[in-house]
Amino acid sequence: MSDDSPLAARSQPVLNIEPDHDYPQAGRRRMILPSPIAFVGTGAPFPEMELLAQMGPDAVFMMGDNPALPRMPQKPKLLDFFRLRFGDLTFRHLLSSAKYALDAGQDEKVVLACLLHDIANGCLIRVDHGYWGAQLIAPYVDEEVAWAVQKHQALRYFADESVGYAYPDSYNKFFGPDYVPPEYIRREAAEARNHRWYMSSRMITLYDLYFFEKSDPIDPEMFADIIGRHFKQPEEGLGFDGSPTAHMWRTMIWPNNFL
Ligand SMILES: [Fe+2]
Ligand SMILES: [Fe+2]
Repeated sequence: MSDDSPLAARSQPVLNIEPDHDYPQAGRRRMILPSPIAFVGTGAPFPEMELLAQMGPDAVFMMGDNPALPRMPQKPKLLDFFRLRFGDLTFRHLLSSAKYALDAGQDEKVVLACLLHDIANGCLIRVDHGYWGAQLIAPYVDEEVAWAVQKHQALRYFADESVGYAYPDSYNKFFGPDYVPPEYIRREAAEARNHRWYMSSRMITLYDLYFFEKSDPIDPEMFADIIGRHFKQPEEGLGFDGSPTAHMWRTMIWPNNFL
């Protein structure tokens, strides 16, 4: 991998820091108040009052590009979020899932669904990730792909011997062996099982394999053609096309905005 490859650039975001005057709110300390969803219930002190008390002419709350993050292009495309925003684990997990599906000869729509299935975990929100992920992509993909992404969350908890899918060992470790999924998940899985698109979502679960150790890097560009055929990238860029989920993409572009 050469130093100027996308993956190399991605692994060294700190090099992307540019002079202060290139960023909004120049000359002032830009305070970041984390989103409450990541704090509530954790026991970590929520710094809302403390930061409000520090506010003044020289200290404001961050709005706009954060120099600690790689700068996004003005018209971001799907793979920009992979390279410049998603955490390393999600980045590798999504690419390897899609590659398994591709190598297994799956339909391109299934490959795309695998590529996108945990997209919400990349930089947005983990809770109910299948639903958030499906919502993010719904304006841009075939309805079946968004459906499959949503339902994989529930189907993961239920084995299907007909395709060799067993309850994941990793879930026993994540949640404990006595974990029982809640009623809404059981209901969703049962409904999905009888749906005509069941197998598309089931295939996501089949290729939903974790590798926590470093695996060989996969260049996301290998999926560019499939994305081109099945993901309608908006001309204005994701986040700026006025779609019902544009704000969710903008939240990933500017995750540290105060409002
Ligand atoms: Fe998932
Ligand atoms: Fe996954």
